[in-house]
Amino acid sequence: MSLPQSQATDPKSIDWANLGFSYVQTKSFVRHVWRADQGWSEAELVQGTSYIPMHVATSGLHYGQNCFEGLKAFRGPDGRVRLFRPELNATRLGESAVKVGMEPPPEDLFLKACRLAVEDNIEYVPPHGSGGALYVRPLLYGSEGQLSVDPSPEVTFIVFVVPVGDYYKGSGGVRGVDALVDEQFDRAAPLGSGSAKLGGNYAPCLPSAIAAKRRGFPISLYLDAKSHTYVEEFTTSNFIALNHPSTPGQGKIEGSSDSAPTFITPNSRSILRSTTRRTLCELATYFGWKVEERPVAWSEVSGQAGDGSDGFSEVAACGTAVVITPVKRLVRGDQEVLVNGGASTMGPYMQKLYDTVRAIQSGTQEDIHGWLWPA
Ligand code: COI
Repeated sequence: MSLPQSQATDPKSIDWANLGFSYVQTKSFVRHVWRADQGWSEAELVQGTSYIPMHVATSGLHYGQNCFEGLKAFRGPDGRVRLFRPELNATRLGESAVKVGMEPPPEDLFLKACRLAVEDNIEYVPPHGSGGALYVRPLLYGSEGQLSVDPSPEVTFIVFVVPVGDYYKGSGGVRGVDALVDEQFDRAAPLGSGSAKLGGNYAPCLPSAIAAKRRGFPISLYLDAKSHTYVEEFTTSNFIALNHPSTPGQGKIEGSSDSAPTFITPNSRSILRSTTRRTLCELATYFGWKVEERPVAWSEVSGQAGDGSDGFSEVAACGTAVVITPVKRLVRGDQEVLVNGGASTMGPYMQKLYDTVRAIQSGTQEDIHGWLWPA
């Protein structure tokens, strides 16, 4: 099948220090096809186009039988390029696939496909020290043309790569952003598919996210669908918070003599657990901080929990694309919550997490946890 040809961007023309989060055509992408009667095909490197062949009745389009992943490759000071925790993405893609009745790609196939996509596009990996990374986007979709609502007997697995910088460039980056609590829309039902990385979990957020952006809020925060009492996650990322007594008037639990910060993140079964969130939980534990994965009530965020606390010391969004983006202000109806006094900069403990994760990813700090692949 002949596909429209399109031109790859010349890597020499890329302004590495000023990359945002936009599509750039690189040299190639990887494709595997699974058929119920044939299993997985060998990897195919597709060059010279950003287009894929698609049947008019593709079930991935009509019935939302699709899921995806996002991970990053980094160039170290020695020039080596490595992926950050790709096995976690392989596992999550498999879980998402099962949620929508698709054949999960085996971990080995997933890892090899990501590696091939990165290696063939190695010139697009931003230089060490530029702050950028090569974003790797695996995509899985039911590719059979069929009309009935049945699992597709053909599944296509694609891995493409794009050089990226900050997701919230211009509106935040590592500077604080404002978040709007969305009360008009529930992102995920309690027993639904919110924990899977499905395309269908993102598109329904668009109208409210666009409305929020128009009001000056780059991100929206969703609450639990059942009671609108607990925090779930942001449009693009997970909710994390820190409590520590060192910020006067912020987050100090009265009568507490604790000095180590507490890292807090919701454990709702309807959130999409990010690799970054897991990494930060592990780092916080490693630092000797307390880690609480538990229901997080909105009243704790707003400082009205009645436990003597006055809100969290620091709040942020975390994920592969957004890394850690601090949230300086949250608005719910006529309630306004200033975090860390509304400061635009990252608070001290979030900064420590951010610096550590970035240093490990970029290879300037020893990877004692074994997170970079290949080792
Ligand atoms: C990621 O963080 O990799 C994501 O997939 C979020 C996406 C909506 C940009």
